[in-house]
Amino acid sequence: MFLRAMFLIAAGCCTFFGADKVVGGPFAVNVTSRSASVVWIVENDTVTLKAAGSTVIKSPALRAEKSEMTGLQPNTRYDYEVAGLKGWFKTAPTETVPFRFVLYGDVRTRHDVHRRVIAKIIESGVPDLVLHSGDLVENGIDSALWANFFDIERALLRQTAFFPSLGNHERNSKDFYDYFQRDLPYYSFNWGNAHFTVMNSDINNVSAVKSGRDEFWQRQTRWLEEDLAAAQKSDFRFVVAHHAPFTAVERRQGDNPQMTALTGTFEKYHVTAGLFGHDHNYQHYLKNGVHYVVSGGGGAPLYDVNKPDPAITQKVVKIENFVSVSVDGKTAKARAISIEGKVLDEWEFRASAAK
Ligand SMILES: [Fe+2]
Repeated sequence: MFLRAMFLIAAGCCTFFGADKVVGGPFAVNVTSRSASVVWIVENDTVTLKAAGSTVIKSPALRAEKSEMTGLQPNTRYDYEVAGLKGWFKTAPTETVPFRFVLYGDVRTRHDVHRRVIAKIIESGVPDLVLHSGDLVENGIDSALWANFFDIERALLRQTAFFPSLGNHERNSKDFYDYFQRDLPYYSFNWGNAHFTVMNSDINNVSAVKSGRDEFWQRQTRWLEEDLAAAQKSDFRFVVAHHAPFTAVERRQGDNPQMTALTGTFEKYHVTAGLFGHDHNYQHYLKNGVHYVVSGGGGAPLYDVNKPDPAITQKVVKIENFVSVSVDGKTAKARAISIEGKVLDEWEFRASAAK
C-alpha cells in the first residue's frame, strides 16, 4: 500500500493570477521516486488577428507555470491544489511493486474521438503513469491547439504522472519543452522494476541541415546505448518513440530507417518492447524476442494496415485504441483496448533482468 501526502502549491490562490485563466493542468511531469514537477498552463491574454476582408482569428497567449519538488517519498500519493484546481500523482516506487501504465498517441485531430479515447482510458482505471507516443497537437507552434489538448486531457492528466514523446506534429516546438519541463527531447526513468527510455525519433525537425540531424542522431544513439546498458538489471526495459521501425501501412514502409537500424541495439540490450505511434491504428510485432507496439489511434484519421509482414506480425487492426500494461513482479500483462472498450490483443511480457 502506498503512502499518502498532501501539499498546497503556494502560488495556488485564485486572486494571485488576477485576470489569468488556467487552461491546462495542473498535471505532474518528471516524476521520479524523490521528485516531481507540477505544471499548469495559464492564458493571460488573447491575441486577435484579422486580414482585410477575413474573419477575426483569436489566439491565446499561454505560459507554463511550474512548481518543482524534491525530497519526496517513493511510492507515495501526493495530492496537490493550485489555482483552486486539485490533482494527484504517485511517485515512482523503488521496490518491485505492482503498477500499471497506459500508452496512446496521435490525438492531434478529431477532438471528439480524442475525448472518447481519454474517457475510455479513465474508465479502464487511472494508470500510475501515462506514456504518450507523440503528435499531441496538429501543429506544436499553435497556442490554440495546445489549449484544446489540455482541455481534453485534463481529467486524465490531473490524476497520474505524464511522460510524453515528441511527435513530428509538435515540430520540435519550444512549447513542448516548456509545458513538459524537458531540457532534452530524450530522457529515461525507472518505475519499480521497469526502466523506460523515451527517444526523439522525429529527426526531420531537429535541424534544417543534414549535418545537424546526423549529429543529433549520433548523440542520441550513444545516449540510448549507455542508458540501456545501465538498465540491464531492471526486469523490464521499454523504449518509447513516435516513429516505429516497422509498419503495416504500405505507403509508409521504409520511412523510418533510423529507427529500423536500431532494432539490433534493442535486441542486444534485451529491450522488452518498443512502444510507438505515428501510424493511426494498432500494430503489434514480435521479432527476435523484442515486442514492437504501435498505438497511434488517439484521434487522428485512421490508416489502413494493408501490408503486415507475416514473419513478425502478432496483430494489426485499423481502429482507435490505447494499450494498458500491468506489471506485477516478473510478469507484465498487456492489453490493447479499442475506443469501444473491446480487447483487441492480449499478451504477456516476461522479465529479462541481467543475472
Ligand atoms: Fe506522426
